[in-house]
Amino acid sequence: MTFNRRQAILASCLAFFGFGHRPVRAASQASDSDFLELNNRLSFPTSMFKQRWDIVKFDAMLSTPEGAKRLQGVLLKTSDDVVGLSAFCTICPHEICQVEFVADTERYRAISDTVVGQPLFVCPCHFSLFDPTRQGEVIDGPALRGLYAFAFEVAENEILVTGIEAKVLELLS
Ligand code: FES
Repeated sequence: MTFNRRQAILASCLAFFGFGHRPVRAASQASDSDFLELNNRLSFPTSMFKQRWDIVKFDAMLSTPEGAKRLQGVLLKTSDDVVGLSAFCTICPHEICQVEFVADTERYRAISDTVVGQPLFVCPCHFSLFDPTRQGEVIDGPALRGLYAFAFEVAENEILVTGIEAKVLELLS
């Protein structure tokens, strides 16, 4: 399945105004990326995301040529507007450590000169930093790309996480 950002924003608005399940989020850094369907679709009530930085962790399963793999992820509210949700895989694209959502800006200032003044994802292994408000892109450290994005759909009362960027296979193989 393929989405682009404009389709995602339009879909989000449609979903908000009650037009049923629509793909909302798909692209990480590319504007048009391929996504793989997850083995398990994950459902979360929209009521879990009332304010900015509300976050939920989940485990997704993906079939790969090497067998089924578990992918840890998070769904979080990155802004107060309608298109305010993002879903990222928390496996660092550098060398597969688990990144951590750090809301305390003083914590990452201790390891980086980067000043953003907002929560970031921080990798504890080699200190790559990822910005959740810019589609998980890397803003410091050795990682060569941003966090892998999950695709999800929003309906009136639930969010369904359905897919993951196909490029994650390069990391898992
Ligand atoms: S494994 Fe994350 S920065 Fe190296």
